[in-house]
Amino acid sequence: MSEQRVALVTGASRGIGRGIAIELAKKGFSIAGNASSLKSSGRKPGLSEVKQKVEQSRAEFLPVPGDISDLECHEKLIQKVLNRFGKIHVLVNNAGVAPQKRKDILDTTPESFDRLLSVNLRSAFFLTQRVARFMIRQKQQSSEYTACIIFISSVSAEFSSPSRAEYCISKAGLSQAARIFADRLAEYGINVYELRPGIIDTDMTRPVQKKYDRLIKEGLVPQKRWGTPQDVGKAVAALAQGYLDYSTGAVIEVSGGMSIRRL
Ligand SMILES: NC(=O)c1ccc[n+]([C@@H]2O[C@H](COP(=O)([O-])OP(=O)(O)OC[C@H]3O[C@@H](n4cnc5c(N)ncnc54)[C@H](OP(=O)(O)O)[C@@H]3O)[C@@H](O)[C@H]2O)c1
Repeated sequence: MSEQRVALVTGASRGIGRGIAIELAKKGFSIAGNASSLKSSGRKPGLSEVKQKVEQSRAEFLPVPGDISDLECHEKLIQKVLNRFGKIHVLVNNAGVAPQKRKDILDTTPESFDRLLSVNLRSAFFLTQRVARFMIRQKQQSSEYTACIIFISSVSAEFSSPSRAEYCISKAGLSQAARIFADRLAEYGINVYELRPGIIDTDMTRPVQKKYDRLIKEGLVPQKRWGTPQDVGKAVAALAQGYLDYSTGAVIEVSGGMSIRRL
């Protein structure tokens, strides 16, 4: 029997991360789900609700709360996963934030810039570094062991939104981080992918829901609908199961065709 595979998903309490955890669980992965705390802000149930949902697929779910931008918590978080499952086969860097207030690039504040770069980029970079070192050791110990790393960036890695420059810049940085880790880890057979969602229906896009409803209606998205966390989760599940095994460094867009240049 092949070994139980384990995925560590950051930002798993809601939105896209929740969708990823659920889809991976359906494919038989055990999930370690991170979020900044056990309960999400406001009245959202958070990781405990996702645990219940994942367990409906008869998969295991270990909540590993912790602010991912605090690099000190990374080692503890990884240890918790290893204590429970012994291994990590898949890392999904999904946790992310939008600016608290959208502001024109001419008015972007250093505080918002630092917050976005810290949560969206710095945290994923250093968590990946730590998990990758562990994956390399596992690879060296067992030829059976397979591993991959997935960065959830955004179409904003390339699109320009002058009202949230710090977000776009954090995602462009993440895109390059994915590429460089893919290059570095290829010799160990650890594939790294960048997955770029388009407009996905989550808490993050709720404040601009009307604007995106209008843009989608006007044809911004060729597939003419919002994306769902499940759309992204299914793509992650395909990568995690090895369906794109000869494609390390690939950028996979889940955006309903938003990047197609049209005349
Ligand atoms: N929605 C979109 O249209 C869209 C498009 C492209 C890319 N993305 C990217 O997809 C990812 C998920 O976005 P989403 O739309 O699902 O957002 P969301 O609904 O706001 O969920 C964000 C998740 O990240 C977690 N998180 C935020 N800061 C964290 C921190 N410091 N430490 C640990 N966890 C933290 C949140 O945990 P708590 O519950 O504890 O706050 C939550 O689980 C982000 O990287 C985002 O940039 C989203």
